[in-house]
Amino acid sequence: MKTLDDLLAEGVSGRRVLVRADLNVPLDGQRITDDGRIRASVPTIRRLAEAGARVVVTAHLGRPKGAPDPKYSLAPVAARLGELLGASVPLAGDLVGPSAKSTVDGLADGDAALLENVRFDPRETSKDDAERGELAGELAALAGQSGVFVSDGFGVVHRKQASVFDVARVLPGYAGGLVLAELEVLRRLTGAPDRPYVVALGGSKVSDKLAVIESLLPHVDALLVGGGMCFTFLAAEGLGVGDSLLEADMIDTCKRLLAEHGAKILVPEDVVIADDFSAEANTHTVLAAQMREGWKGLDIGPITAERYGDVLAGAATVFWNGPMGVFELAPFAEGTRVLAQSIVDSKAYSVVGGGDSAAAVRALGLPEDGFSHISTGGGASLEFLEGKPLPGIEVLEQT
Ligand code: 3PG
Ligand code: MG
Repeated sequence: MKTLDDLLAEGVSGRRVLVRADLNVPLDGQRITDDGRIRASVPTIRRLAEAGARVVVTAHLGRPKGAPDPKYSLAPVAARLGELLGASVPLAGDLVGPSAKSTVDGLADGDAALLENVRFDPRETSKDDAERGELAGELAALAGQSGVFVSDGFGVVHRKQASVFDVARVLPGYAGGLVLAELEVLRRLTGAPDRPYVVALGGSKVSDKLAVIESLLPHVDALLVGGGMCFTFLAAEGLGVGDSLLEADMIDTCKRLLAEHGAKILVPEDVVIADDFSAEANTHTVLAAQMREGWKGLDIGPITAERYGDVLAGAATVFWNGPMGVFELAPFAEGTRVLAQSIVDSKAYSVVGGGDSAAAVRALGLPEDGFSHISTGGGASLEFLEGKPLPGIEVLEQT
């Protein structure tokens, strides 16, 4: 796989470099609530710009339906990227249309511009190779004769999409610094991690995490289960879970996992229940066996958080993906906070995987440098740990 260093050694001055970044940040209206992914994208863009490249960044935001939608405009992202780079980053009003062409034509050596949300074009996510290939060709045309492609959006390398995968087949492709750093960390986890190796998983659906649970269980010493998916595990243990999130069709799977690996799987002993999904709800902390009809579990309880903390204190390697509760609402943030703090306090090599957990670290005011690595990729890091091929990486290895 060719890398950013190889490209810089070749020389980029005056050349157009198309950079796929993952700038998919959480927004509250026009306000960016966590700019972690933008900050993580800056070093590669800056290195290229400092070497005199004309940097054309392409990225997605959210999941628009293949047509322009102002709600998903990258405008706030372009503004923030400009602040971080210390230079204005013009945003083209389209992806490969007249605005993109004139924006790219207007770039001087060392400038960077952003193209509008790549998912406004239905070809980006098309299942049809020819359609994606056509868009990739148009993106490549923007880069022109001596143009090259730098893949730096680690959070999207698991997507076989035009700006991630197909473009690397029509332009010379290079792995960016962020992608390389993320891969190095994850390889350490799938290689021979120091033991005990503890994984903490939250998030709402067992079905989303099943593949990674199955592939991790043989390799980990303990799996700490929290988040909405813990209730399906509790139901599999025969407990009533009231109005909590429940994936009824996954109960048998959870039973099997508990039967095969029960000694490694820890589920909550106590939970915080509420009569409403809101910060003003009435709440109680109860034993997991005492959940009530009409109430839903929205966080792990303090006994559980302490027990998980004890396990983490003894860990040598930790991977954490998914909040333990609805941390965005103050009454249900404590489980995630205690878990994260336990990781910070441990001496373990610790990796935080992905969007929500990374946002939780920052939202709860935990020190980012208390973790060995905070990944920008949620789904991508999980698919890597599952051992699935990542199309955006494979294509770089093949060309
Ligand atoms: C993410 O948020 O995980 C990445 O930006 C990928 O987004 P997607 O899940 O919508 O493809
Ligand atoms: Mg996601």
